[in-house]
Amino acid sequence: MTTAFEPIVLGGRRLVNRVVMAPMTRSRAYGPGAEPTELMATYYAQRAGAGLIVTEGIQPSPVGQGYPDTPGLHTAGQVRAWRTVTDAVHREGGVIFAQLMHTGRIGHPKLLPDGLVPVGPSAVAAKGQVYTHEGPQDFVTPKELSEAEIRQTVDDFAYAARGAVEAGFDGVEIHGANGYLIHQFLASGSNRRTDAWGGGTEGRIRFAVEVVTAVAEAIGGHRVGLRISPGNPFNDMSEDDPGEVYPALLDRLAGLELAYLHLMEGPDRGLTTALRRAWPGTFVLNPFTHPDVTGPDELKLLEDGIADMVAYGALFLANPDLPRRLAAGGPFNTPDPATFYGGDHRGYTDYPALD
Ligand SMILES: Cc1cc2nc3c(=O)[nH]c(=O)nc-3n(C[C@H](O)[C@H](O)[C@H](O)COP(=O)(O)O)c2cc1C
Repeated sequence: MTTAFEPIVLGGRRLVNRVVMAPMTRSRAYGPGAEPTELMATYYAQRAGAGLIVTEGIQPSPVGQGYPDTPGLHTAGQVRAWRTVTDAVHREGGVIFAQLMHTGRIGHPKLLPDGLVPVGPSAVAAKGQVYTHEGPQDFVTPKELSEAEIRQTVDDFAYAARGAVEAGFDGVEIHGANGYLIHQFLASGSNRRTDAWGGGTEGRIRFAVEVVTAVAEAIGGHRVGLRISPGNPFNDMSEDDPGEVYPALLDRLAGLELAYLHLMEGPDRGLTTALRRAWPGTFVLNPFTHPDVTGPDELKLLEDGIADMVAYGALFLANPDLPRRLAAGGPFNTPDPATFYGGDHRGYTDYPALD
């Protein structure tokens, strides 16, 4: 029986345990350069006891930014600043992957440099609002990407991945979940294209396949993870056929020898076990626990062989020494949603560790 506190080899790297810090946007990269800060280095170093840290979503290009004060990984300044974060985590013995998140149609022109507008596979707006410095704004209709722009976007992911390695990251996680650009291509509701990047399953998985392949070619598949969330309706997504699309996607990616697949699970445990069976490599699970957050009970998923690693979001945000607390059976600090996005060190680096 495997437990959370046994090491695992991931992409050739030995991780001390099977507890993953899930990616979490914290919107504290203040300033025009969208660079990570010393405070962010402290936050991640505090959490270096994770087997693997996955950072907050990081935009691979200016137009990929969908929220205020999220950091980028496309300028020399950003690469330099991330080095401070990765050095701090490595000094504490941690392993850290950068999550590359292009938000696509989720965003707003007010969040983007002059003249840029959110983009998507098709000119289909999401229903809902996004937070900006000028208050909540309705999502806009995105600009439909041309073939040339799609190719450029694939290149942007590969360029950011090279920057991540230069910045000292152990790898990158490609964000293919939660209604952002890659998910928008996968889903029938947001992808209405009739060219080779849309239509049936083969067309809709193509952008994800090309991004993952380009990133794996750029930095090596062993440094690449992919996050997916089949059927997740977040950000006004609708998918007719997740049971068909995701197995086809995994089939196309199986040969790349990626570091891991990260499933943000929905209510369908049957789909989870089917995807786990279809995936030849390491399987990271962020389990479906709605309305609760992932907690100590979910460690059982490792013992039952449902997953190789379990990813914790909110509980890791509030407990810098989460693996230690899980091993001890608690107690746990309670996450405070009021300080999730933006603000200062409060609700960020001041959650206490156990004595
Ligand atoms: C504050 C916050 C920010 C998040 N930002 C991201 C993100 O940038 N990328 C991502 O893939 N998921 C993001 N998520 C989702 C988490 O990774 C995770 O899937 C979710 O919190 C459910 O896991 P939990 O029950 O352990 O919290 C975020 C969640 C929270 C609470």
